[in-house]
Amino acid sequence: MNTSEQSKTPVGVVGVGWVGLVTAACFAELGHPVVACDVVQEKVDSLNRGEITIHEPGLAELLAKNKERLEFTTEINEVLSRTKLLFVCVDTPPTYSGDADLSRVRAVVADLKADGDHVLIMKSTVPAGTGETIRRDLPGMAYVSCPEFLKEGTAVKDFLNPDRVVVGAAPEDRTAADEVASLYSSLGGEIVMTEVSSAEMIKLASNAYLATRISFINEIANVCEEVGADVGEVARGMGLDERIGPHFLRPGIGFGGSCFPKDVNALKLLAGNSGYHFQLLNSVIEVNELQKRRVVSKLTKHLGSLVGRRVALLGLAFKPDTDDMREASSLVLSARLRGEGAEVVAFDPVAMDQARSLLPGVEMRDTALAALEGSDAAVLVTEWPEFRELDWAGAATLMRRPLIIDGRNFLDANVVHGAGFTYEGIGRPGVGADTE
Ligand code: UGA
Repeated sequence: MNTSEQSKTPVGVVGVGWVGLVTAACFAELGHPVVACDVVQEKVDSLNRGEITIHEPGLAELLAKNKERLEFTTEINEVLSRTKLLFVCVDTPPTYSGDADLSRVRAVVADLKADGDHVLIMKSTVPAGTGETIRRDLPGMAYVSCPEFLKEGTAVKDFLNPDRVVVGAAPEDRTAADEVASLYSSLGGEIVMTEVSSAEMIKLASNAYLATRISFINEIANVCEEVGADVGEVARGMGLDERIGPHFLRPGIGFGGSCFPKDVNALKLLAGNSGYHFQLLNSVIEVNELQKRRVVSKLTKHLGSLVGRRVALLGLAFKPDTDDMREASSLVLSARLRGEGAEVVAFDPVAMDQARSLLPGVEMRDTALAALEGSDAAVLVTEWPEFRELDWAGAATLMRRPLIIDGRNFLDANVVHGAGFTYEGIGRPGVGADTE
């Protein structure tokens, strides 16, 4: 370790889930000694052995490369005695009411003493107003809201190349806010210095807006199907307007994951609890739910009744490059297909272990071709790159009926049709004898 590394501020991380682990690994990569704690002993033990349990590109390599600067423990006191800056990264899953469950955040706060020495930096996504409550409970401890914007699958890259870093603090915590901002100053993104409730709202509003764009383009895709337009062309033409931009206009079979569904609902409820009816978000959520189910009618259009038909799902994770199954569209889709009497088989390159217990009655196959063999139709659920490279001509001969519904508009319709398939995407013209 050289002198400049030795002088880097130590960083504490509380909670080593997706966000916490990436935060720990990336601060270590930036040269900071990191002490991270979690209540789950098994997780801490495996991290100390250098093993990680989540699939996130580049993360294992970063942890291995920086292992001398990283320490994992179950003792929060270890973190408190060795670090001043505490990044709280515990999860805030939805409760039955749909509001964010803050029990883990409260448990952390209960362990902290307002010693005037530590800075609590909130990375967990919390309802706007949470910071104010915590500041009341911990007078004397500096509080900074620093929401995380990383995406699963590109989390390391997102952390190290942020579009912006949001740092929210009350005027009396300005020194602490500057310290937090300086941790990110070498990364290049604009640093947005603001107060706590605005920082909290920036996070919720960003996720809700991105989800709104997806539901919007999904509805446009559905209209394109009615009028014979191609949503890919429509999105391209729209995205060239710099007020609109090209991102997050990919239609599909709905958004999933641990964040959008939870955060959109949490913002809707936060507004409702404060007396405001957030009309638009109701539609965003409803459109997303219906979008997951539209595949069923696309299948029945070709196959008639699905009773006894075998449908192969290609991909199960909520998006590629992750094994995360939280709120994955495959969960709703497979249940709907089974409800229609279909037999469902599936393949995912990394998520099958996570998926098995969540998808009772769905038969997992070892390869995509094995899932397609003997099936009456396939649905591409997750756009894993390897599906583009599949031997589609070989696949066509293995299937009982070569029909594919491309739920992510990921495949080249002409290539797949040339291989013998009837092809249907989302909001784009189908190709094949019975789609014309
Ligand atoms: C999302 C946000 O993009 C991050 O900025 C945020 O930090 C994170 O939530 C969070 O709050 O923790 P993530 O859920 O990892 O990140 O994944 P995304 O890449 O945003 O995808 C979410 C879902 O939207 C996926 O199911 C994806 O397939 C879908 N999607 C995305 C579309 O259907 N169309 C698009 O154009 C883009």
